[in-house]
Amino acid sequence: MISVTHFQDRDGQVLADVTPRRYFCTECHVQQTDARPLVPNTFVDADDVGRKR
Ligand code: HEC
Repeated sequence: MISVTHFQDRDGQVLADVTPRRYFCTECHVQQTDARPLVPNTFVDADDVGRKR
């Protein structure tokens, strides 16, 4: 179930349907699957940048 926050506009007004700014779920959420990533990813957390291991 989608949280109530997804039915509120930016002023906190509760809407009857999902708010347009939350319409495209994958804009914020990532699917939980073990599928191989389509694009290689070398992301490094900002906390680890420049840190010696
Ligand atoms: C603008 C970014 C954004 C979009 C777009 C978005 N979400 Fe979320 N979602 C969040 C954030 C941030 C949270 C955690 C805080 C909250 O509940 O608002 C969350 C939480 C959730 C939760 C957990 C709710 C709970 O009670 O724990 C679910 C389920 C969810 N989203 C589903 C969806 C679905 C389905 C869509 C598409 C219709 C969607 N979200 C679109 C940002 C987003």
